[in-house]
Amino acid sequence: CGIVGYIGKKQAVEMIMDGLAKLEYRGYDSAGVAIVNGESVVNFAKKQGRLSKLEEVLEESPIQGCTGVGHTRWATHGAPSDANSHPHLNTTKTLAVVHNGIIENYMEIKEMLLEEGYTFQSETDTEVAVHLIDKFYEGDLLEAVYKAVACFRGAYALGVVSAEHPDELVAVRKESPLIVGLGEGEYFIASDVPAILKYTRDVYYLENDEVVYVKGDKITILDATGQPVNKQVVRVEWDIEAASKGGFEHFMMKEIYDQPQAIRDTLLRRLDNNRMIHLDDIKLTKEDLEAITKMYVVACGTASHAGLVGKYAIEKLAKIPVEVDIASEFRYSDPFIDEHTLLIVVSQSGETADTLAAMKLAKSKGARVLAITNVVGSSVAREAHDVFYTWAGPEIAVASTKAYTAQMIAFYMIALDFAYKKGTVTLERYHELIDRIEALAPLVEKILENKEAIKTIAEDIKDTSSAFYLGRGIDYTTAREAALKLKEISYLYTEAFAAGELKHGPIALIDQGTPVLCVVTQKALEEKMISNIKEVKARGAFVIAVTKEGHSEVGKVADDIIYIPETEDLLMPVLSVIPTQLIAYYVSIARGNDVDKPRNLAKSVTVE
Ligand code: G6P
Repeated sequence: CGIVGYIGKKQAVEMIMDGLAKLEYRGYDSAGVAIVNGESVVNFAKKQGRLSKLEEVLEESPIQGCTGVGHTRWATHGAPSDANSHPHLNTTKTLAVVHNGIIENYMEIKEMLLEEGYTFQSETDTEVAVHLIDKFYEGDLLEAVYKAVACFRGAYALGVVSAEHPDELVAVRKESPLIVGLGEGEYFIASDVPAILKYTRDVYYLENDEVVYVKGDKITILDATGQPVNKQVVRVEWDIEAASKGGFEHFMMKEIYDQPQAIRDTLLRRLDNNRMIHLDDIKLTKEDLEAITKMYVVACGTASHAGLVGKYAIEKLAKIPVEVDIASEFRYSDPFIDEHTLLIVVSQSGETADTLAAMKLAKSKGARVLAITNVVGSSVAREAHDVFYTWAGPEIAVASTKAYTAQMIAFYMIALDFAYKKGTVTLERYHELIDRIEALAPLVEKILENKEAIKTIAEDIKDTSSAFYLGRGIDYTTAREAALKLKEISYLYTEAFAAGELKHGPIALIDQGTPVLCVVTQKALEEKMISNIKEVKARGAFVIAVTKEGHSEVGKVADDIIYIPETEDLLMPVLSVIPTQLIAYYVSIARGNDVDKPRNLAKSVTVE
C-alpha cells in the first residue's frame, strides 16, 4: 500500500492525488482521500479500483481543503471493496486514518472496542486504529495517537487528520516505510519518495517509532517517548523513474532486494505471541487433514517450482504424499481425484488461465482446493476453499523473484501447520523450524552483499550460447528455477538436469567451455554431486558452483564458487536461488536485454 499526506496552503486533494499516482506501483485495488478544512467533519472519498475511479468521483464532487491524507491499497486483510478502502473514519467522522502495514493484534483490539460499543464498517485491521485513537482522544490529537500506537503490535505507517485540528497532521512509523517531504511552507508525508518528488527533493527518512507532528507551518519529529529528534535533511537526487524502483535501475533488482522483507511479512504477520502459526484463511481441521490421502500441487512457471519445494516440505513434515504437475498438463491427464484429495494451486497473479482451469476441474471432481497467491481477491483466491496470501507486495518485473521466495515460505508454513495438527512434528521441532525460517531474511541480505562477485561471474558467461544447471534432490528444484530465470531474461538456451541423469544423455551437450552451474547444498548428496562435477569438467565444462560456506571440497573441483550461508537442508532453496537470480539479472544486462520486460513474455498469462 502507499500513503500520502499534505499540509500547507494549496489544495490538498490535488497534491495527494499527484502523490498517489506515483505510488500506484505499491498497490492499486482501491484508493481514497480525506480532507479537513475547518468544517465539523472530515470530507472524504474512496473507491474500489484504480486511481482513475477515485478521480471520477472527485471530479463530480470536489473536496476543498489544505490538510489531508490519501491511500492506494494492496489488499491484505479484507478483499478490495469501497468499504475496505482507506481512509478509515471514526463513527462521528471527525478523524481519518490511512495505514500501510499490518496491525497484528487487531483482533484483540477489535474485540475490546466492540465491547465498548464501537461499530465497524470494514474488515480491515486499519479500522481499529481510528476507533482506538477516537477512544483515547480528549482534545489532544498527538496524545491520542501516542496512546493508540502503544497498543499496537505489528508494522505500520499511519497518517492521521482530525476535523477539530485542521492545521495539524500526525504520522507515525514502525517497520513500514515513511518519509517526510519538506516544501516551501508545506509538508508531505509519503510511503516513498516518488510521491513527493514533483514538489520537493528535501526529505526526512523516518526511523522506527518516530512520530511526525505538523502544526501550522512548524514540524517536529518526536521519538517513542515524546522527545524531539534532530533529523538530517536528505536531498534526493533520483528522478521519478529511478525512485519508483527504490533507486535501483530495474524493478527486478528492486524485487530481488525486497525478498528479506517479503519473507518477514509472509511469516511474522502470521505468528502469535507464542510463536504459533495462524493461517486465518485456511479452515482445514485436524480431521480434514487426516482424511486427506493425497495432495496435488498445480501451477505454471516459477510457481510450479515453488510447488516442488512444497512437495519436499509437506512430505517430510506432514507425511502426506504430494504430486506436482504443471497446470496445462494436469488438466488433460485425467488425474485421480476424489473428496480425499487436496489440490494446492500456486499463482502469483491469481489469474493464470491454465491454473484456474485446473482448479475448476479438481473442484468438479470433489477435491478441496487451497490457493497460494499474491493477489487478494484474485480469481484463484475467489475460486478456492482455502487461501494463503503471500505478502510479497506487487511484483512488476515479468521474471518472478520475491513472489517465488514468498511462495516457498508459504509452503514451509503450511507444511508445519499441517504437521503440527496431524502430530507428525514435536512442538520443539515446530519452533526450531519457525526460528530457522525467520533467520532466512538476514541470510538473504548477507548473500545480496556479495552481489559484485556474482556480477563478475555473470560476465564470465555472458557470451555463451547455452548454459546448464545441475542439482540433486531439492537442489534440482533450485536448478530448474535458476535455468528458467536465466532463459527468460537472457534468451540463452538453458536447461536444468537432475545430476544423476547426466550420463543418460545430457552429458552429450557438454563441450569446451560450456557453463554448467551446480547447486550443491544437501549434505547427503554432496559426494555424488562432486563426482558429477568431475564428470562434466572432464568434458571441458566451465563449472560454477553454489554451495554452503566452508564446503571446501566443492571449491576444489569448481572453476568459480559462490558460497552462501548455511541453514537446514530443507530450507536451503530460499538461499540458493538468490545468487542464481543475480546471475540471470547480470547476464541479461550484459547482453543488453530489457530485464523487466523480456521479449515474448507476459507477467500474467490469462489465455490457455
Ligand atoms: C507467466 C510469467 C511467469 C510466471 C507464470 C505463472 O508465464 O511470465 O513468471 O511464473 O506466468 O504466473 P502466476 O501468476 O500464475 O504465478
